[in-house]
Amino acid sequence: MPFRRSLEFPTVLHHLGDIGTSDILDFGCGSGVYTRLLARSGARRVVGLDISEGMIDHARRREETEGLGIEYVTGELPERLRGAFDLVLGVYVLPHAPTYDDLVAMCRAVAAALRPGGRFLTLPMHPDLHPDPEHYARYGFRLSLDERHDAAPVDFGFSIGGQSARFTARYWTATTLEKALREAGFAAPEWRAHLVSDSAEPGPSDDFWAPYLACPHAAILDARKG
Ligand SMILES: C[S@@+](CC[C@H](N)C(=O)[O-])C[C@H]1O[C@@H](n2cnc3c(N)ncnc32)[C@H](O)[C@@H]1O
Repeated sequence: MPFRRSLEFPTVLHHLGDIGTSDILDFGCGSGVYTRLLARSGARRVVGLDISEGMIDHARRREETEGLGIEYVTGELPERLRGAFDLVLGVYVLPHAPTYDDLVAMCRAVAAALRPGGRFLTLPMHPDLHPDPEHYARYGFRLSLDERHDAAPVDFGFSIGGQSARFTARYWTATTLEKALREAGFAAPEWRAHLVSDSAEPGPSDDFWAPYLACPHAAILDARKG
């Protein structure tokens, strides 16, 4: 998705900062898009974890051909990797929690992976996402949400290269996201801003990006393990 290349990846890398001495877990890594990006960006050690065997199989096949030194894990983090990470990245994984208890359980699993003082950078649905489903159409996706309450379903549809897909994500209020993180042992998160890459097409100051920057669909939460 050009949107991810021009805006989302550079935003996440910017907020991660210098990762050259970091051991990073990509929690909910899916097909490994970010896992590979982290490895290519020079992280010391990168592990990708996902609950879906199909996703991990795909990511491992990519690793076999690309040889980036990434380890992939399905399901829960094994004991040997607990407390082994400086940083956990979790992109679009918290919206998979169907209940508040599941949301806290995910945050606890992340906390267990981190060393004391480690960081969790995560992108949930933005609590103030735009109510018009067409607002994000120019970026390649449509979102619709009937009600704004915890665990409310958000219908997410996108198309890439002529193929389209839909899935249901869960909406969480800002108060609930912060509460779940606190319950899992994190300090109050910083809310970070999006940015557009200098090499984006159209360029970063083009009006194309203004509607997204004014009302992003994803929030960026940066939380430190207490
Ligand atoms: C929307 S995908 C995002 C994948 C990837 N982070 C990305 O940005 O391309 C969310 C992923 O989270 C995974 N997931 C959902 N619940 C999970 C859990 N409890 N633990 C680990 N992974 C989970 C799903 O299987 C899915 O692959």
